[in-house]
Amino acid sequence: MEHVLVTGGAGYIGSHACKVLKAAGYVPVTYDNLSTGWADAVKFGPLEQGDLADRARLDAVFATYAPVAVMHFAAFSQVGEAMREPGKYWRNNLCGSLSLIEAAAAAGCLNFVFSSTCATYGDQDGVVLDEDSAQMPLNAYGASKRAIENVLTDFEASDGLKSVIFRYFNVAGADPEAEVGEFHQPETHLIPLMLDTIEGKRPALTIFGTDYDTPDGTCIRDYVHVMDLVEAHVLGLKWLMDGKGSRVFNLGTGKGFSVREVIEHSRAVTNMAVPYEEGPRRPGDAVRLVSGSERAETELGWRPARSTLEAMIGDAWRWHRSGHYER
Ligand code: UFG
Repeated sequence: MEHVLVTGGAGYIGSHACKVLKAAGYVPVTYDNLSTGWADAVKFGPLEQGDLADRARLDAVFATYAPVAVMHFAAFSQVGEAMREPGKYWRNNLCGSLSLIEAAAAAGCLNFVFSSTCATYGDQDGVVLDEDSAQMPLNAYGASKRAIENVLTDFEASDGLKSVIFRYFNVAGADPEAEVGEFHQPETHLIPLMLDTIEGKRPALTIFGTDYDTPDGTCIRDYVHVMDLVEAHVLGLKWLMDGKGSRVFNLGTGKGFSVREVIEHSRAVTNMAVPYEEGPRRPGDAVRLVSGSERAETELGWRPARSTLEAMIGDAWRWHRSGHYER
């Protein structure tokens, strides 16, 4: 069976990717330093504990498994933290990725699927973004991801490395079978924080800013179900294995929801009250981030079937209540 090296396979999106890779007939080999991931989330293939900066360890793992491709999820990904500690983001995300890309090229593993972000676009309020929209990252997180995209382009010219770059919008939800799900420590994302609040684990959700220029004053995001998102990665892998070459795809749904709308849907899905208070804006937040997914749909054949707020909140809620969520 063919192996795929999954960096960050012990994390939220990476663990879901491992599940669908296994279902697609691959052996997902997780490479993760467990700094933010969880060993017990690695359920679908082997775990190789290691750091992206450890080139010798990476070389050994490439030699052991001879993977046909890399899926690179491992990264720090909190916008607020990136504003406070930019060096941490540049070092881990850019330098770590460079080490990985060099190791992959040296091993002749030339198919690379990269987890990028809509944060590369910055704040372009009013625009439905597409892959050709201007790149104007607002913070070190988005800027470091954008820089890695450029590194990949350079390694195509030098080594023939082919990459599929996915720019994610707001990933949410969980495996509907609740084998894996979202668990960040600390948690900063809207939906899991809201579910914690509903369960009484936190006193109240704070809405970050109610004076934005949107219909209800709160920020608008394009939420994508994590299972739809990782399915796109399997299609991206196939794209590369079929020799179709490097390509960038946005993964959004074209529909945005405000923070207040997410709260309303959560109340409806869980049938429980969501205690919240209104607070100031969070630094680094864009007003509105929404993308069309035309390219992914027409070229990859991607169908984001589960990306309704009901399904995302419902699956996250099931995961929260599954007992696996507590660690
Ligand atoms: N929000 C609140 N209260 C909270 C948490 C979030 O009001 O307690 C709001 C945020 O201000 C934002 C929305 O809910 O308007 C969604 O926030 P998240 O933290 O869930 O997600 P972000 O949009 O900040 O971040 C996501 C990804 C990042 C990525 C970013 C791009 O998690 O990795 O999109 O802007 F960089």
